[in-house]
Amino acid sequence: MRATRYHEHGGPDVLTVDEVERPTPADDELLVEVRAAAVNPVDTYFREGSYEPGDLPWIPGSDVAGVVAGVGDAVDGFAEGDRIYGTALGNDRPGTCAEFVAAPTDRVAHLPSTVDFDEGAALALAGVTAWRALVDHAGLEPAEYCLVHGGNGGVGHVAVQLAAAVGARVVTTAREPYHDDLAELGADVVLDYGRDDLADAVRDAGAPDAVLDHRLDDYLQFDADVVAQGGRVVGIGNEDVTAGFENVPAARSKEMTLTLMSMFNTPDVAAVLERLGRLAGDGDVVPVVADSYGLDAVDEAQRAVVAESFLGKLVVEP
Ligand SMILES: NC(=O)c1ccc[n+]([C@@H]2O[C@H](COP(=O)([O-])OP(=O)(O)OC[C@H]3O[C@@H](n4cnc5c(N)ncnc54)[C@H](OP(=O)(O)O)[C@@H]3O)[C@@H](O)[C@H]2O)c1
Repeated sequence: MRATRYHEHGGPDVLTVDEVERPTPADDELLVEVRAAAVNPVDTYFREGSYEPGDLPWIPGSDVAGVVAGVGDAVDGFAEGDRIYGTALGNDRPGTCAEFVAAPTDRVAHLPSTVDFDEGAALALAGVTAWRALVDHAGLEPAEYCLVHGGNGGVGHVAVQLAAAVGARVVTTAREPYHDDLAELGADVVLDYGRDDLADAVRDAGAPDAVLDHRLDDYLQFDADVVAQGGRVVGIGNEDVTAGFENVPAARSKEMTLTLMSMFNTPDVAAVLERLGRLAGDGDVVPVVADSYGLDAVDEAQRAVVAESFLGKLVVEP
């Protein structure tokens, strides 16, 4: 089969398309014919070597949507021909930018018939991250105020919709061209992240009970300043490896909690995918596909995911 791989760590140029052996699924695994993979910033961290994947050469890609082409001996609940989607691949096992991938059944779920493969791949990692942050860690409840930084991002656009589906009042930030689309996806208030009075504008919209922060080095103190008394801040990302409070007493006086998380630690990925699939199947969460690439253009996709502005996700169609 064809697979995108890198044989050494480095920039996007290290990605090549190789002919490799099709994987054989273990007892608890599915062989999946990949119809779509998605591109995430984490793919670039693995490629660069700042996160350690398995042994090189390595196939990038955490998300998959496709058709079951084989089932391991101990697999229950899946059969050849089933449409599935999954995530949390590509770190401790080979990734999804390939024609086939072997995926453990605890990282996949059935894909509703109304959700296409590109949308399934777009939803998986971003959706599990948003769920883990807002549902598991923030415990977001109806009518609470929720701030999602960067609402047009891969995680951001699903988080906005998930928070709205929970019944929260959703405040998000994005560049101006995305404001109407984000309002349509369920944001109650959309604010330009570049404005000088952003903190006041967030407070005016309603001090957030929960905050999803994807740039802790920019926003940790901001979060503490705007969050409601007793609020919950969940940090999923950063640009610089260091981040800290500029005013610890102000944060302390809020009795806020801060949770830092990795989607890869989600205890039951399949259960979250199952629920997200229901929301997507019913149209309550719509994964947005901004662009698609072939296996031979994963380098372009990985460049774009960290350097370009778009709403939603970039996907790879092998
Ligand atoms: N911990 C985890 O489990 C986990 C899981 C998924 C992702 N992450 C991390 O979370 C971060 C976001 O991931 P993603 O997939 O959503 O990335 P993405 O699709 O590239 O989205 C990033 C978003 O950040 C926005 N942005 C850029 N500068 C900003 C600023 N100063 N203030 C507010 N927003 C700004 C971008 O908007 P423009 O491009 O329009 O400027 C874009 O909407 C990455 O660091 C990723 O590694 C962590």
